[in-house]
Amino acid sequence: MFYEPGRTDHGLPYDPFKSCVVPHPIGWISTLDRDGIANLAPYSQFQNLTFDPPYVMFAANQNTSGRRKDTAHNAEQTGEFVWNMATYDLREAVNRSAQEVPPDVDEFELAGVTKAPSRLVRPPRVAESPIQFECRFYTTLRLPGSMVGTVDVVSGRVVAIHIADDVLTPDGRIDVLKVRPIARLGYYDYTSIESVFEMRIPGNNKAVAAGLEGNAKQIAEALD
Ligand SMILES: Cc1cc2nc3c(=O)[nH]c(=O)nc-3n(C[C@H](O)[C@H](O)[C@H](O)COP(=O)(O)O)c2cc1C
Repeated sequence: MFYEPGRTDHGLPYDPFKSCVVPHPIGWISTLDRDGIANLAPYSQFQNLTFDPPYVMFAANQNTSGRRKDTAHNAEQTGEFVWNMATYDLREAVNRSAQEVPPDVDEFELAGVTKAPSRLVRPPRVAESPIQFECRFYTTLRLPGSMVGTVDVVSGRVVAIHIADDVLTPDGRIDVLKVRPIARLGYYDYTSIESVFEMRIPGNNKAVAAGLEGNAKQIAEALD
């Protein structure tokens, strides 16, 4: 089948678009508003952008009143946000934090999770989550669209990383099967990471291999 989004109908009972690019990692983002009220919401239009230094982004549509979502607003206003790893064990809390509620509601309380202080930024981390990034707002790219479809692509630099010791393997990797991150599929579907396989780019280029790992020090050594 073929269709042109916004011009011709796909003719399917459910919109297929979000189901084509899957899975989406989830950015479970905490912020503070100017009065210090904590906000927490999942953003599956989320990615890391680069690693040296690390940057991440999340893309916030407009809310159902056509206004900027609180997470994007707070990140811009205060210059800070925190990314929390969304895991299978935390899936119900992640979902609760997606409710559209007024800005004066503390969404840590709504989700039923505990605040852990951050070290370099003011927004708290989700204590129950095994990995968190403290981020400083960099810029917003606003892409035009419909009332809800207009999107604020918010990027930030990762200035501090927390990893719980009990999700590190003896050889110093993150045990992703133990963490069991969740990710969005299309429709109302989710997946979680339950298997891993390894592949390396063919050839002996050490800088290429280090780039795949995201190891800035080894890239510099290989190119020296
Ligand atoms: C798993 C999941 C992923 C979501 N991803 C996005 C997203 O990428 N962009 C977006 O605008 N809303 C997304 N939402 C909806 C927001 O979480 C929801 O609008 C929330 O109320 C926004 O809160 P805020 O206004 O406090 O930022 C998602 C919801 C769920 C459950």
